[in-house]
Amino acid sequence: MSRGVALVTGASAGLGVAFAERLAADGYDVVVVARRRERLEELAERLQTNVEVLPADLADPAALAQVEARAADGIDLLVNNAGFAGYRPFAEIDPEVAENLIRVHVVATTRLTRAALPWMIERGSGGIVNVASLLAFSGSIPPDPLPLRATYAACKSYMLTFTQQLAYELAGTGVRVQVLTPGLIRTEFHEVAGRDPTKMPFGMMEPDEVVTASLRGLEAGEVVSAPGLEDDSLIESSNEAQRTVFRTAIAGGVAARYRE
Ligand SMILES: NC(=O)c1ccc[n+]([C@@H]2O[C@H](COP(=O)([O-])OP(=O)(O)OC[C@H]3O[C@@H](n4cnc5c(N)ncnc54)[C@H](OP(=O)(O)O)[C@@H]3O)[C@@H](O)[C@H]2O)c1
Repeated sequence: MSRGVALVTGASAGLGVAFAERLAADGYDVVVVARRRERLEELAERLQTNVEVLPADLADPAALAQVEARAADGIDLLVNNAGFAGYRPFAEIDPEVAENLIRVHVVATTRLTRAALPWMIERGSGGIVNVASLLAFSGSIPPDPLPLRATYAACKSYMLTFTQQLAYELAGTGVRVQVLTPGLIRTEFHEVAGRDPTKMPFGMMEPDEVVTASLRGLEAGEVVSAPGLEDDSLIESSNEAQRTVFRTAIAGGVAARYRE
């Protein structure tokens, strides 16, 4: 018996393929979304489940609207996974690329989540996985040896805050949300970004391992899932540091260093 329908974006490569394969094996019917139709069709042939192939460029509002319509029709699990890096010095990045980073990571994630939620809330069950990155936590870390990433990292930070706030709003509804923050994964992401995957400054995880971590985390009710983080209490320490900044700065009045 089907466990329901899972919609996976970016299912033509890397982590998205691994999500689609695992969810199909776990008994979900899947809707697979990406631009490269042939790859989605090859995947559909391989998977032993019902597969809907939905080719779409998520940076294109009209194509995104079609995917939103499918999400609003009723899905049990949404994996907002599509993404790309666009690493460049910000003063040199093609403005279209910068905008498309925001469209794919921020706008598509927001609109698909908004489309999918009412049906899930009505049923009292469902899940949403927003694939961010460890770079969501990297605002204070200088570029080198990490890539030049102002827009990409900011998009991933949006996904982090968005998901954390949604988790509060959805408490008690039966719908679970997770932001996934992996480090390096062995996929074609790095070649697409123009970086040599054999020269990475850190170790890599396999897509399959990351999917396992995500789904176990979702099952456990983890909102922020960092597959590479052994000591997960560090997430709470980071949250506590944010709360301390907020609590002490909101108290009222301007800080002494800004007063005459
Ligand atoms: N690989 C890593 O080290 C790493 C680390 C942390 C987080 N991540 C995140 O993990 C997610 C998956 O990345 P990956 O490593 O699996 O990369 P990947 O192998 O390059 O796959 C990216 C997927 O996103 C899709 N995509 C890109 N732009 C799209 C668009 N405009 N419309 C629709 N689909 C689009 C691609 O499909 P088409 O080209 O066919 O459209 C492809 O299926 C991304 O969000 C990435 O930011 C990756």
